Amino acid sequence: MDEFDASLSAARMRDAESSLTGLRERFSVPEDTVYMDGNSLGVHGQDAEAALERALTQWKEYGIEGWTQADPPWFEYGERLGDRLADVVGAKPDECVAANSTTVNIHALVGTFLDAANGTEVVVNELDFPTDHYAIRSQLRARHLDPDEHLVIVESDDGRIIETDAIADAVTDDTAIVFMPSVLYRSGQLLDVEAITDIAHEHDAFAGFDLAHSVGVVDHDLHFDGVDFAVWCSYKYLNAGPGAIGGLYVHEDHFDRSPAMAGWWGNADGTQFDLAPEFDPARGAAAFQIGTVPVFAAAPLFGTLDVTEAAGVDSLRERSVELTRYLVSLVDARLPECEIGTPREAERRGGHVAVEHPDAGKLSRALRDRGVVVDFRPPNVVRVAPSPYYVGFDDIWHAVDEVRAILDADAHHAYGEGDEQVT
Ligand SMILES: Cc1ncc(COP(=O)(O)O)c(C=O)c1O
Repeated sequence: MDEFDASLSAARMRDAESSLTGLRERFSVPEDTVYMDGNSLGVHGQDAEAALERALTQWKEYGIEGWTQADPPWFEYGERLGDRLADVVGAKPDECVAANSTTVNIHALVGTFLDAANGTEVVVNELDFPTDHYAIRSQLRARHLDPDEHLVIVESDDGRIIETDAIADAVTDDTAIVFMPSVLYRSGQLLDVEAITDIAHEHDAFAGFDLAHSVGVVDHDLHFDGVDFAVWCSYKYLNAGPGAIGGLYVHEDHFDRSPAMAGWWGNADGTQFDLAPEFDPARGAAAFQIGTVPVFAAAPLFGTLDVTEAAGVDSLRERSVELTRYLVSLVDARLPECEIGTPREAERRGGHVAVEHPDAGKLSRALRDRGVVVDFRPPNVVRVAPSPYYVGFDDIWHAVDEVRAILDADAHHAYGEGDEQVT
C-alpha cells in the first residue's frame, strides 16, 4: 500500500464513521458520475422531489383553494421557508424570507439601503460575480449617481483573494453600503463577514452580503454579527433545483425601512386582499417579497431544508472542511502542474477549491468526458466542489486520479480540439 492508498483508506474510515454518511442516499447523483459542481447546481434528491410532488398534487386537488388549503398554504410559502432559512444563516425568523432570485434581491435591498444611507458610494470588489455589479450599477443610476464614480471596486493583489485591510482602506464616510460575497465564486475564499460588517459600521455605512456560495455549507451568524442585509440562492448547496427561489435577510433594526422595489406580495397579509392603492408593508423581511411566490420553484426547498436541518449546518461545515482539506492535500501531492488558488487556512476557505492550470478549460472538459463534473472559470480555474451532502473522500481520490491520468496522457489527444465552453 503506497502513501496515497493509505490516505484514501484513512479517509474511507472517516467516511464510514461520519454521522453524515447516510445523507448521500437521499440524493441521486447522475449515474457513473463524480459530481463536484454542487456550488453551481446541487443534484436532485428524493426530498426535493417529494416536496414538489406534494405541491403538484395539492394543485390538482385544491385548484385555487391551495393558496389557503394546501399544506403548507402556498400563500405562506415565503414566510414559512424564511423561518427555516433563518436557522441556516443565523437570524431571527422574521428576518428572513424566501423570495425572488439573488439578482432581484440585490436590486431590492441595495436600492432600499441606498435610500436609507448617509453616504452615496457602494464598495464592492473586482472578483465579484458580475450580476452583483450589474444590479448595483443600475440601482445607482436610478438615483442619478454615476456608477463609474459611486461604485468603489476593491482590487485584489493576486487575482484570487480580497484582503479585509483593502476593504477597510476603501470605506470612507461617503460609503453607503459595503456589499461583499461571503465566498468568492472563483477562488473560494471565505471572507470575514463580522470584520467587514464592523468596518462598514465604523463609517456609518450598511453591510450587505451575497451568500450564494456559502448558504447551506458554511455556518453564519448574521444577526449576531450585526449584518444589515443579505441575499442568496437555494439551487447550489441547498439543492432545491434549477431556478429555485432565492432568499433574503434584513436585520430587525431595519424593519421600518420602505422597500425600494415594492410589490403586493410584500404587503401585510391582513390587508393584501383589500387591494388598496397604497402599499402597506408586512413587518419584517416579508416586506421585500415582490410578486406572487413561484410555488413550484419554492416547494422543493421544503424538502431539502429537512436534509440540511437533519445534518446541521455546523456538521456540514465540519465535513466540508475535511473534504476540501483532503482535496488540497491530494492536489499538492499528485498534481505538481496545478496550483491551489484557494486559501489553505480552513477558516478562509468556503466549500469549493480552485485548482489552477493554464489549460483549465480543456482540463475541465476532459474531466467531464470522464464523468467527473467540475466547472471552468476563466482564465485558469477548475472549480472543484465536494459538497458535503453527497460527495465522499473516495470521489475526491477518483477525481484527482482522473486529472493525473489526463495530464499524463498525450495532451493533444486527451484534451481534444477547440475551445472550452464556459458554463
Ligand atoms: C455570487 C453569485 N451571486 C449571484 C448569482 C446568480 O444570481 P441569480 O440566482 O439571480 O441568477 C451567482 C450565480 O452563480 C453567484 O455565484
